[in-house]
Amino acid sequence: MERLKPIIGSCLAKPPLTKSHLQVTALNHSFGPTNILKDIDFCLEQGKVVAIVGPSGCGKTTLLHLCAKLLAVNDGIVDNTFNSFAIAFQEPRLLPWQTALDNIAFGLKAKGINKKQRYQQAVSISKVFGLTPHDLDKYPKDLSGGMRQRVAFARAMVTKPELLFLDEPFSALDIGLKQELQQILVQHVTKKNTTILFITHDLMEAVRLSDEILLLANSPGSIVHRLTLDTPIINRDDQFVYHETAKLLAQPKVIQTFELSMNLNTAVEHEIS
Ligand SMILES: Nc1ncnc2c1ncn2[C@@H]1O[C@H](COP(=O)(O)OP(=O)(O)OP(=O)(O)O)[C@@H](O)[C@H]1O
Ligand SMILES: [Mg+2]
Repeated sequence: MERLKPIIGSCLAKPPLTKSHLQVTALNHSFGPTNILKDIDFCLEQGKVVAIVGPSGCGKTTLLHLCAKLLAVNDGIVDNTFNSFAIAFQEPRLLPWQTALDNIAFGLKAKGINKKQRYQQAVSISKVFGLTPHDLDKYPKDLSGGMRQRVAFARAMVTKPELLFLDEPFSALDIGLKQELQQILVQHVTKKNTTILFITHDLMEAVRLSDEILLLANSPGSIVHRLTLDTPIINRDDQFVYHETAKLLAQPKVIQTFELSMNLNTAVEHEIS
């Protein structure tokens, strides 16, 4: 019998095959004539966290939306065998005519959970996200950006999805809240075996929270670097995060993709002139 060849970014490369997975194979995407994503291959297995990092406009959100089937896949394969998933969008996309509490409870309604339980569960998760009863009565327009982001995050988590898609979930939060919510995420991954595909601009965040980092470069968006982090997420301390981030920042592909030295030089020239 012919042996299966390991494929880069494939779940087939790493047994066992019995776990749920999100397998992306030879994925391309264009908007009109513009090629946005090219040859995307990766596998996200149950209980794992994959972070997508890359410069603004390289196609991260587009890739997440293709994985979540919010965009039609026309070229390539997205195979999602998880029973349930939820997404927290880059812009919170809350329903403006509903309070924060109703927004959080929204996904539970679709699951057929009765009103009392919906509110109980929504209130319970809102505490985890540092939202007060006063905040929960407010409409989205009356919430701060960070509050809106937490409501959107809580709305995604409250349904206890097997797979969670997070598009820059911590970008509008202060450093203390960010740390708290990162810890919540770590708990979910380690205790509840939640699987996460998340986008971040923050390399330290990616190193702290993920099992694999995919670096997406621009024009068209393609994976130019992969980093697997074997240390269990729960065991990563600040020293580990600083050390691994520094190593990542020294990678030529990372320097090139984020135009690190070029930006620095440009800034310096601008200062001098
Ligand atoms: N619906 C659309 N129609 C046409 N072009 C689009 C559409 N959505 C996104 N694009 C384009 O696709 C490219 C990638 O956008 P995307 O939002 O995926 O980037 P991103 O990596 O998430 O950026 P950021 O880090 O700024 O959020 C951009 O050039 C964007 O203008
Ligand atoms: Mg985006």
